[in-house]
Amino acid sequence: MKFLPIITAFAATAIMAAPTKERAGCVARSYDQISGTKDCTAIIIQGPFTVPANKKIDLTGLKTGTTIKIAGTITFAKGTLDKNNDLVTIGGTNIKVDGTSGTFDGSGPLYWDGKGGNGGVDKPKFVRLSKMSGSITGLTVIDSPVHTFAVNGCHGLTLTNITIDNRGPKYALGHNTDAFDVGSSSDITITGAKVYNNDDCLAVNSGTNIAFNGNYCEGGHGISIGSIKAGSVVDGVSIKGNTVVNSANAVRIKAYANATGGKVNNVTYSDITMSGITGYGIIIQQDYTNDGATGKPGGAAPITNVNLYNVHGSMAKKSRQSVYILCAKCSNFNFQKIAITEGAAANGISPKPMGC
Ligand SMILES: *[C@@H]1O[C@H](CO)[C@@H](O)[C@H](O)[C@H]1NC(C)=O
Ligand SMILES: *[C@@H]1O[C@H](CO)[C@@H](O)[C@H](O)[C@H]1NC(C)=O
Ligand SMILES: *[C@@H]1O[C@H](CO)[C@@H](O)[C@H](O)[C@H]1NC(C)=O
Repeated sequence: MKFLPIITAFAATAIMAAPTKERAGCVARSYDQISGTKDCTAIIIQGPFTVPANKKIDLTGLKTGTTIKIAGTITFAKGTLDKNNDLVTIGGTNIKVDGTSGTFDGSGPLYWDGKGGNGGVDKPKFVRLSKMSGSITGLTVIDSPVHTFAVNGCHGLTLTNITIDNRGPKYALGHNTDAFDVGSSSDITITGAKVYNNDDCLAVNSGTNIAFNGNYCEGGHGISIGSIKAGSVVDGVSIKGNTVVNSANAVRIKAYANATGGKVNNVTYSDITMSGITGYGIIIQQDYTNDGATGKPGGAAPITNVNLYNVHGSMAKKSRQSVYILCAKCSNFNFQKIAITEGAAANGISPKPMGC
């Protein structure tokens, strides 16, 4: 008993010593200080500061197990980079990003011209997760010039409680502001996201074992697999417990007719709630092109083993139709408990699906 106070004092010293391992050089309070943090294992990026026009944050090649805390607002000045650039790239093994008090502002309204990635003003993409494993928690990302998150070549990555809000001034002119584009990745979980945008909330272009659970999507084009092009393989996606509001579609699988070598297999959408859907509640199409549907489906990329369970809610008053399926080569669709209230009879809108 008498030794107890000594042990307690020792423990307190050990706990207090821990934070001093953080070097001053591991805290970036301006854009110029970021490159100097790359050999740190605990990086702090502390806003507010502005990333100058045409500069990009490169957080690739980090040490295994690095933690990054992003705090305050980091604003990206409008520049002239095009969609082959990403304003932020993060990569590395077992990287843990804590963005609970951090915001990236992409200055989107200064670029938005209604043309998105299809033309007009050059627009950089926003955040690329490249060959990254680990997690990101709680980051807020606002006003992306065009696509918001690209998850590319990542294996074992969890994105939790991310907010994407692309509703800045001139919201209607924002275009192709996809929330999460996933390609060539496996074992990805996206959960607790709140998305306000005007394109896909999720677009899985290729990958396996992708989970999208408990997210909220408003204003966009819905939760999508595809668009599937030649060689794109999506196998094993679970989309569960999501809400889609005031969007063009809720549930969507889109493939090009000529997507040779592509396929979509083993996709489950369960417990999906929708409201205010202006296009389709559920749309599965093998006639997709970026310029709109052709009406001529092709089965180059077969769509197989699609399970929809408990998909419910309502269309907008003025909408196309609750369920639309146009396939050339699809098999083993299992739909149960689908209940979508139709809008007032199509209102003369063409049922032909739109492009992006
Ligand atoms: C995500 O948000 C939910 C709801 O606020 C909270 O319960 C959960 O702990 C958060 N997750 C993380 C990893 O911070
Ligand atoms: C289907 O995909 C899920 C992941 O979404 C996976 O857990 C399951 O094992 C896959 N089923 C088959 C038969 O491969
Ligand atoms: C596939 O179809 C699309 C849309 O019609 C077209 O733009 C593209 O060039 C075609 N690709 C190939 C490989 O034929």
